Amino acid sequence: MRFDVITLFPELFPPFQTVGVTRRAFDSGQAELALWPLRDFADDAYRRVDDRAYGGGPGMVMLVQPLERALIAVRAAQAAAEAAPTPVILFSPTGARLSQPRVEALAASPGAVLVCGRYEGIDQRFIDRHVDEELSLGDFVLSGGELPALALMDAVLRLLPGVLNDEASHRQDSFSDGLLDCPHYSRPDVLGDAPEDRVPPVLLSGHHAEIARWRRERQLALTAHRRPDLIEAARASGRLSAADEACLRSLRLYS
Ligand SMILES: C[S@@+](CC[C@H](N)C(=O)[O-])C[C@H]1O[C@@H](n2cnc3c(N)ncnc32)[C@H](O)[C@@H]1O
Repeated sequence: MRFDVITLFPELFPPFQTVGVTRRAFDSGQAELALWPLRDFADDAYRRVDDRAYGGGPGMVMLVQPLERALIAVRAAQAAAEAAPTPVILFSPTGARLSQPRVEALAASPGAVLVCGRYEGIDQRFIDRHVDEELSLGDFVLSGGELPALALMDAVLRLLPGVLNDEASHRQDSFSDGLLDCPHYSRPDVLGDAPEDRVPPVLLSGHHAEIARWRRERQLALTAHRRPDLIEAARASGRLSAADEACLRSLRLYS
């Protein structure tokens, strides 16, 4: 898969290709990252890519034309590599919230062109002409789209085969089956005198079915407590078993 990133700050990206599990996606050739420094597509001596907003007000707006020239260069590079043109994603607080199902769909796709905004944002005409999807990381405002681009690529690349140490591990992560993850424990089994300092005995029992049941119950309890909306969504999509429903009923009994 291929990501083309249009950005004012390309220097934020190289470490992402050389550290951690995502490095494997690049080393194995499963993923390719091309950086398109927006100032290279300015057309004046000052390499200007922003200007004041029509109508006044504080802050600068990213200009359409350097962005369009960058996108033309991306398309030319994709054509030269005989790669399919990929959809254009713009990061914006006004976009749809990025979700695990969207990440999974992207992991099964040929990639995307990621446009990183800065300043007050991007001239709306570039969005109207070229952007296929606007994505937000959440209800807060960052100073640029570079961290969202890195977050999206990290979430996508860790799903590619061979990138995580254990293929199964992302399937027990939060959201992969619509619920939050269960708590995890490691050595030592006893940390202190308080009851919560002890690893739950079932995890030391070696009884796989009991451990699986305990984990599922903890997932259901945590999700019901923190994200009841996810329980409703899992129920609506038929992902809760009769045993899950019984567990949820017992939780309500004792809460
Ligand atoms: C300072 S922000 C602009 C915020 C914009 N004026 C607004 O209020 O919606 C600059 C850039 O950071 C990126 N950005 C900021 N917050 C974001 C978020 N929550 N999700 C995705 N991108 C974000 C976008 O690319 C945005 O164009």
